[in-house]
Amino acid sequence: MKPLSNLLSSIPPSATLAVSDKAKALKAAGRDVISLAGGDPDFDTPTHITQAAIAALESGDTHYPPSRGTAPILKAVANKFAREYSMEVDPAKQVLISPGGKFLVYAAMAALCNPGDEVIIFEPYWVSYVPIVKLVGGTPVTITLRASDNFTITADDLASHITPNTKAILVNSPSNPTGRVITAAEAEAIRQAATENDLYVVSDEMYEQLIFEGEHINLASLPGMADRTVTINGHSKAYAMTGWRLGWAVGPANVMGLAAKLQSQSVTSAASFTMAAGAVALDGPHDIVEEMRVSYKARRDFMVPALNAIPGVECESPQGAFYLFIRFPGLSEDSMEIADILLEKAEIAATPGIAFGQAGEGHVRFSIATAMSELERAVERIKKLMANL
Ligand SMILES: Cc1ncc(COP(=O)(O)O)c(C=O)c1O
Repeated sequence: MKPLSNLLSSIPPSATLAVSDKAKALKAAGRDVISLAGGDPDFDTPTHITQAAIAALESGDTHYPPSRGTAPILKAVANKFAREYSMEVDPAKQVLISPGGKFLVYAAMAALCNPGDEVIIFEPYWVSYVPIVKLVGGTPVTITLRASDNFTITADDLASHITPNTKAILVNSPSNPTGRVITAAEAEAIRQAATENDLYVVSDEMYEQLIFEGEHINLASLPGMADRTVTINGHSKAYAMTGWRLGWAVGPANVMGLAAKLQSQSVTSAASFTMAAGAVALDGPHDIVEEMRVSYKARRDFMVPALNAIPGVECESPQGAFYLFIRFPGLSEDSMEIADILLEKAEIAATPGIAFGQAGEGHVRFSIATAMSELERAVERIKKLMANL
């Protein structure tokens, strides 16, 4: 038999999906596993959103929709940009609705990269960035951010990694896995690097509505950035809609045109009735989103001191998203080993930090998009584990 794709063979499957699938299999086999591995809110999608999907289905909205997205959701995204970032966006040419934000990161990168183009990625990074850049023929160039510096992005780091081949900078704020929210100074360093070196920026703002401290900065709306920035966002996290597979991107018309071409020649479109619900989510009342945010914050405010009170465990308080990036110096510096011990001895599924790049080594990631009762049980198990070493 002839060999299969070398490129795809060289790319690992998503580590977070692998760990959460393993936890699901152990649970199905009767083990009392507490799964903190995935990034899936424990809340159900708010009722006014599910009702909109049901109404769309019942009214016969079950046919091929326009590939780039239906008019109401394209308009809802443009309205959000006008309302929140004072940015005028052409819904027909600058917005793309896709089945999930992950596909939009892929589509944006595919639109930007020629073989050998370098894309700057800050490490620790969300697990899919490096594979996606490789899949489109680009070269990931990582900048290591250090826990000891509070994962701060600096102009010097950017300057020393930009080469004539650099095409884009990939930014994720709030960050998965560290929970860091970029400051105005960091945003300015990125803006200057991009404008002075003629670079694109792909700004993954998936956790934008889940901030506990700090202010969200939409990079596209900074001076000189609208023509070079693709903003990626989606419904999964803020509206508890992971299973719906719905995301949106906004960017310059030429980039979004190519991304839309990739969509039309591959997945075609997002689903018709999910877009109907997605428009309602964007336009509709946001008090439920705020309730979920407050609940994640309460979980963070319980977990961080509870973990730090356990000898041999260290955890910074994240400013946003819904993850804790935890060290277990009392257990090991090897993140795979920590995750294995947690699973085997405490029946807690966590994602090893190495999945987020070398800079994630020594950490594991817990998702706090998990019921408080489960988090309380996890803390008790960790207390017992660490006491019995
Ligand atoms: C930083 C970040 N970006 C993008 C995504 C993609 O989300 P989705 O494809 O569900 O919209 C995720 C999901 O975990 C994420 O954490």
